[in-house]
Amino acid sequence: EQPYVVGSKSFTAVAVNCAAKAGEWIKIKLGTHTSLNTKYSRQDLVTEMDKGAEALIRKLVHTHFPDHAFLGEEGVEPGPEASAQALRNVQDAEYLWIVDPIDGTTNYVHQFPFYSVSIALAYKGEVIVGVVYDPSRDELFVAEKGKGAYLRNRKLSVAEEEVLSDSLVATGFPADPIVAYPANMAQLQAVAPKVRNIRAGGSAALHLAYIAAGRLSGFWEMNLSSWDLAAGSLLIQEAGGRLSDINGEPYHLGVRNILATNGKIHEELKDTLLSAGGV
Ligand code: IPD
Ligand code: CA
Ligand code: CA
Ligand code: CA
Repeated sequence: EQPYVVGSKSFTAVAVNCAAKAGEWIKIKLGTHTSLNTKYSRQDLVTEMDKGAEALIRKLVHTHFPDHAFLGEEGVEPGPEASAQALRNVQDAEYLWIVDPIDGTTNYVHQFPFYSVSIALAYKGEVIVGVVYDPSRDELFVAEKGKGAYLRNRKLSVAEEEVLSDSLVATGFPADPIVAYPANMAQLQAVAPKVRNIRAGGSAALHLAYIAAGRLSGFWEMNLSSWDLAAGSLLIQEAGGRLSDINGEPYHLGVRNILATNGKIHEELKDTLLSAGGV
């Protein structure tokens, strides 16, 4: 049994506070960023707001929990190998905070109001707190291991759809075109005729939160990183959904090709994706 509270500071309260503070700040500054750079590819963007929000969260976490390990996107070299290695470097830590300060930087840069702050706390490799905050709608999704997932005071549960043909699903296009796009296009072609429709909102963490909230029945994306998925993974588990990699192997922090659903359409969506060619 891991302790959820150290002294008087609950892990969840700190995670919520970090997400709210960072989210509020990036929302106020929307449209005012002064630096825009590319990272791994021409599509992989970063602004000073990404770095500033991560610094704010890191500082708050370490004020409360100086001994905890911290993995944030902007503290890691760009690209899939570096992000996998960065996770391996810290994954044995007892307590590990996994943070995406702005999930959906492209949206943020274009002032498309679908981006989020994603904060997870893992204990011995297992996510025990997950918070995804959408500042545009002031929606804070919170999950604690074994205690459910919540939006405001509402306990979340996944959508009821039993079959793909009744389902609204989402995907995303990673900022890694060479590896991911051909597979993604084949997958789109396989999935599109079978579902009610497909969305690609541009924030993986928020898509996962939407599955927990029953607004989407499924989501898949290739080549994501731990910080895109960790917080949302607990939201989905606690809302009664299911997560695996695209081949159906159980979710863990190192999974990059994610399949997340309400549970009921998991096998059908997995088989459809696999029919598009395995990975
Ligand atoms: C991105 C978003 C986007 C997804 C990309 C991610 P970032 O994260 O989650 O939805 O399609 O693969 O890299 O870089 O905006 O934090
Ligand atoms: Ca990024
Ligand atoms: Ca991200
Ligand atoms: Ca990010």
